[in-house]
Amino acid sequence: MEIIITKNYEEVSKKAADIYKEHMEKQPQTVLGFATGSTPLGMYEWLIKYHEAGLDFSKVTTFNLDEYIGLAGDHPASYRYFMEEHLFGKVNVPKGSIHVPNGMAENPDEECQAYEERIRKAGGIDLQVLGIGINGHIGFNEPGTPFNTLTHVAELTESTREANARFFSSMDEVPTHAISMGIKSIMHARRIILLANGEHKAEAVAAAVKGPITPELPASVLQLHPNVQFIIDEAAGRLL
Ligand code: PGA
Repeated sequence: MEIIITKNYEEVSKKAADIYKEHMEKQPQTVLGFATGSTPLGMYEWLIKYHEAGLDFSKVTTFNLDEYIGLAGDHPASYRYFMEEHLFGKVNVPKGSIHVPNGMAENPDEECQAYEERIRKAGGIDLQVLGIGINGHIGFNEPGTPFNTLTHVAELTESTREANARFFSSMDEVPTHAISMGIKSIMHARRIILLANGEHKAEAVAAAVKGPITPELPASVLQLHPNVQFIIDEAAGRLL
């Protein structure tokens, strides 16, 4: 595990975008994992700028980590919508190469299996970006999720629902469940970068990097991955 501490969020974002850019230039036909949340927004802004300057997404296949159950892709709080708004609508990834779990699937368990199969058929994820929750979650793998979980239906903890309530008009509207790539699905990615910024992430980051490897702190599993970099700002790295 490599830890890169930068001065601020802008530098975290630029560094992360540069890693994606360099990877795509070396390997234009690649499978990229994307994440939602506030953290990767700056990275996506850079990727859009790089695209405007010529970075080509036409041979890329993408997989997102998760999606709320019960929200259609045109719901403004859905992760499909988020990705359209902040990245996919502004770069040239072919629509058919974009994968986000279908939160409206009639049978969510079947959708989970099908999603895992789509990742496998695409050859696996080459480069995956992650955020980290204040409780150490990655994707919607909340504390207690076994490390051997593949894509599954996840129940959101109250702390996660509260953290995400800002995207909804009331707490009641925040979904209780999501489809999420599992810890095992994430660990299959060939290379992982985890981004974090701000004081409020410092405890989760320190536990992930230095704490025991335990399902109680899902991101701690990354200590076992052979190719992972934490790219964090000074505030998030305060306890390291
Ligand atoms: P955030 O969420 O980027 O909005 O802080 C990260 C996460 O919960 O994984």
